[in-house]
Amino acid sequence: MQKHTLFSEKTVTIGTDSDNDNYIMALESSCDETACAIVKNGRQVIANIVASQIKTHEKYGGVIPEIAAREHLDAVNIIIDEAFEQSGLTPDDITAFSATVGPGLVGCLLVGLNAAKTLALVHDKPFIGVNHLNAHLCANYIDTDLKPPFMALLVSGGHTQIIDVESYSKQTILGETIDDAVGEAYDKVARLIGLPYPGGPRLDKLAQIGNPKAFELPQAKVDGYNFSFSGLKTAVLRLVKSFDGKELPVNDICASFQECVSATLVKKLKKALVEKGYKQVVIAGGDAANSEIRRKVFDLENEGYKVFAPAMKYCTDNAAMVASCAYFNTNTYDDIDVEVFSRA
Ligand code: KG4
Ligand code: ZN
Repeated sequence: MQKHTLFSEKTVTIGTDSDNDNYIMALESSCDETACAIVKNGRQVIANIVASQIKTHEKYGGVIPEIAAREHLDAVNIIIDEAFEQSGLTPDDITAFSATVGPGLVGCLLVGLNAAKTLALVHDKPFIGVNHLNAHLCANYIDTDLKPPFMALLVSGGHTQIIDVESYSKQTILGETIDDAVGEAYDKVARLIGLPYPGGPRLDKLAQIGNPKAFELPQAKVDGYNFSFSGLKTAVLRLVKSFDGKELPVNDICASFQECVSATLVKKLKKALVEKGYKQVVIAGGDAANSEIRRKVFDLENEGYKVFAPAMKYCTDNAAMVASCAYFNTNTYDDIDVEVFSRA
C-alpha cells in the first residue's frame, strides 16, 4: 500500500489497496525517447505517446547526452498534451504523476522528473518517482494478469540481470553482467561490422537470415548467475579481422553472435528457475524485443513454464511501464525533493 500525504494535507492511497480506480500519468526521459503515458490500475494503457530521437542521433552513431536533453525539453510539453488528448482525461482525473528518477542520463532525466513534479504540485496530486529497471520489469503487468512470484531476465542497453521477484516489491538480483550489458554488446558488435545506429535491432534482422552455426563463438564461464559479454565482443573483433578486408559474411556473424548470447542467457535463466522452483518467467528490457532471446525463452513453455514478455512497444523505453511501476511497486521515491541518479 502506498499512502501519500499532499501539501494540502489530503491523503491518497495508490496501488492494489486503493478503493478507487487509479489513473497514473508517467513520464520517461532517461535516454533517447521522450515518453508520456496514462495507465489505469497498473495494467490498462489509456494513452501511450513515444517521441523517438533515433533520427537525431543516427548521424553521430550513438546518443549524444546534451543533444538528447535538449530534445526532451522540446518534446515534453507536446507529448503531455497528446497523452491527455488521446485519453480524453484532464489533470483532475489523474490520481498521481510519476517519472523515471534513474538510472539514466542525468540531463535527460531532469526534464521528465521536473515536468512530473510540477504537474503534481500544480494539481495537488501525489508524485511517484520510479527506478527505470523496476519499470522495465513492470511492463509485464500491462494487459496481463501476471502476479509474483516469478523469475525475470532483464536485458537492456545498460543492464543484464536475473531477478527473483518474490512479491510486487521484494526483488533480489541473483546475478548480473560483470562487464558489458547485452544491448551494449549488440550495439558494439553492430558497429564493428559496420551497421548503423541503433545497432541491436538491425543486427537481429540480419541474424534471422544467417546461419547460427557458421562460427563457434565462446560462451564466457562466469560463476553463479553472473554474465560476461566483453570476451564475446573481442572474439567477434578477431573473427572480423581474420577476413583481412575481404567481404564479411555479415548475416552469419550476426546469427552466430545472436545464438551465443541467447544460449548463454537462457542457460542461466533456466538454472535459476530450477533452483527456485518457480513456474513463471518473464523477460524485460529493450533486448526482450530480440527475436532469438524471445524464441528461446518462449521455448520454456514446452517444459511447463508460463512465459510472459511485454508487447514489442513496451520492451524498449516507454512511459506505460513507468506508470505501471508507480502503481504496483512500493520501492518508489515519493519525496518531491528526490534527485535524479545516473547509475543503479
Ligand atoms: O531498454 P532500452 O530501450 O534502453 C535501456 O534502458 O538501455 O534498451 C535499448 C537496447 C539497445 O542497446 C538496443 O540495441 C537494444 O535494446 N535492442 C535490441 C533489439 N531491440 C532493441 N537488441 C537486439 N535485438 C533487438 N531486436
Ligand atoms: Zn530502458
